[in-house]
Amino acid sequence: MAIYSEEMATFIWRNGETIPWEEATIHVNSVGHASVAGIFEGIKAYWNETDEQLYVFRLQDHMKRFLNSIRMVRYGFVYSMDKLCESVLELSRANEYRRDVYIRPYIFQKGIVRELLQAVPGKETELIIDSWPFTSYRDPDQAIDVCVSSWTRIADNVLPARLKCFSNYHNGRLAAMEANVNGYDWPILLDGQGKVTEGPGACLAIVRDGKVVTPSITSSILESVTRDTVGRIVTEVLDIPFEERVIDRTELYICDELFFIGTGWEIMPVASVDRLPVGDGKAGPIGRAIRKAYGEIVRGIDTRYSQWRTPVWL
Ligand SMILES: Cc1ncc(COP(=O)(O)O)c(C=O)c1O
Repeated sequence: MAIYSEEMATFIWRNGETIPWEEATIHVNSVGHASVAGIFEGIKAYWNETDEQLYVFRLQDHMKRFLNSIRMVRYGFVYSMDKLCESVLELSRANEYRRDVYIRPYIFQKGIVRELLQAVPGKETELIIDSWPFTSYRDPDQAIDVCVSSWTRIADNVLPARLKCFSNYHNGRLAAMEANVNGYDWPILLDGQGKVTEGPGACLAIVRDGKVVTPSITSSILESVTRDTVGRIVTEVLDIPFEERVIDRTELYICDELFFIGTGWEIMPVASVDRLPVGDGKAGPIGRAIRKAYGEIVRGIDTRYSQWRTPVWL
């Protein structure tokens, strides 16, 4: 049952002006990002100069997560996995990308804002694929200073971290702002039990006694594609033990290395937690090795794992 009348207003107020309701349009980007129910993905494609090829990294895996998020919010959805992946390639060709690119598919419920709260399952949606060039270079010595946030990570029965929707990011934004005003680069969020989860936009791993350890996928984290890639690199390329388990806050203070892992951040070492240096306070050897291997795999310099790279150019 609709709780609002179906009638529309004739005028709307916008930026100091009363204008006809129909004229209050904004760019589709803004709608998606502003929408409570917006679901999105973050994908990167890497240019390989030697192959003269742009490789989209783990495209199917990102689209699988996108479809899972869409399923959780019960959107009516008409595109297949193949169509989604092909659309990313078509867009990249249309933009004539011959450099590193960030790709942002997002979807939101069509219609007016007040309908969002009615949350009718199967409602028509709008799907956007946006993209923009970026440069994937970070100083290998770069390492950031982080804090443990006073904000608690959203729980699965509150606002699931597994669901990649824009609304979830307010939790991380609050934590990031707090970190920022207190002079840290980024925060780490704990769950309701005080156990380590992730950062506002990346998962994390620690190194203890030569073993790489990361919170499990049921630890109020996004099911990160990079986390999976790092697990494979650690065990298969570097031949280092890898463990998924609950991590205590105090392990952050005594671990040998700590790094964030995610599509956006790639592999980002942490120099200190709550002003306690991690190891010797610099990017550690295992994090460096993972970062190097990751950089070579995503770009196809290391030709293994070709199933993870979808070429854009035919
Ligand atoms: C909250 C959060 N956790 C983890 C990740 C890392 O996920 P992925 O490796 O799939 O990029 C992201 C990346 O967007 C994120 O926003």
